[in-house]
Amino acid sequence: MARTDDDTWDLATSVGSTATMVAAARAAATRRGVINDPFAEPLVRAVGLDFFTRVAEGEADLAEVADDAWFRRMTDVFAARARYYDDFFNSASAAGVRQVVIVASGLDSRAYRLSWPAGTTVYEVDQPEVIKFKTSTLARLGAAPTADLRTVSIDLRQDWPTALQAAGFDASLPTAWNAEGLMIGFLPPDAQDRLLDNITALSVPASRFAGDYGTMTDQSAATQQQMAAQADHWREHGIDIDPVDLSYTGEYHDVPKYLQAKGWDTVGTTLTDLLGAARLPPLQDEDLGVAPASILYVTATRR
Ligand SMILES: C[S@@+](CC[C@H](N)C(=O)[O-])C[C@H]1O[C@@H](n2cnc3c(N)ncnc32)[C@H](O)[C@@H]1O
Repeated sequence: MARTDDDTWDLATSVGSTATMVAAARAAATRRGVINDPFAEPLVRAVGLDFFTRVAEGEADLAEVADDAWFRRMTDVFAARARYYDDFFNSASAAGVRQVVIVASGLDSRAYRLSWPAGTTVYEVDQPEVIKFKTSTLARLGAAPTADLRTVSIDLRQDWPTALQAAGFDASLPTAWNAEGLMIGFLPPDAQDRLLDNITALSVPASRFAGDYGTMTDQSAATQQQMAAQADHWREHGIDIDPVDLSYTGEYHDVPKYLQAKGWDTVGTTLTDLLGAARLPPLQDEDLGVAPASILYVTATRR
């Protein structure tokens, strides 16, 4: 179903199912020893989408969905991305940052699996059903947060800064912000700008930001055809992910340029770099033409 301004979801539907897909990839990568996210598998199992459960349990592979470069490399892509952001948080912690905000947190379990220094508060912001599911599932599993975890159940197209501050966020402290798997068309262009404006307004100097950005669905006939084929493949596997329907269209600002203009110093990274840092096989020529290869990664520090 196409997006509407006030649409909602859980972890088995619409944008929410992409969070389960990414967690299934992390579970598979954990089995292969590439990353260590012990909560990914039980979380995915609890969502109850059969194919993703089998992927998480090592009985199926995301590459079975379709024989194209995107599906073949999906586990590696999300594993490399997870490592990149783990490194970002570890280096922010080492630099003394003790306030963390993960927007679009989905099934991210960093608040439970990273070794946060004492005194760290982690805020997770996502839609209410997503927050409720992850928090209650991990509590049921007996998992305890490794930081002072505060959840903020709100849509990022609404006034999330007020909700974040009501949860205790202190705008006078340096903050490490993360937006993983969000700025790829899941917010309308103006809401994405507002997200970055609000993050900037809430960030004192030495605050840090890390995110990925780009589009999975340019308007070319070839991409539209490729995405329609992807949606069919997912449907055959019982999963309702239609990249075209899930994405907003329109003109997006280049995220690093936008941040630079707002007072951030940025460092860009490509998927090739991420895979190399994670010691995963490089992209082959045929991989470079697929949408995920066009997604870019940026870390930023507030001047
Ligand atoms: C691809 S998932 C990424 C989840 C997580 N960051 C990760 O990488 O595992 C996208 C996430 O963005 C969240 N999201 C997208 N649009 C949102 C919105 N308008 N408000 C709140 N959350 C949103 C979804 O609920 C979902 O959890």
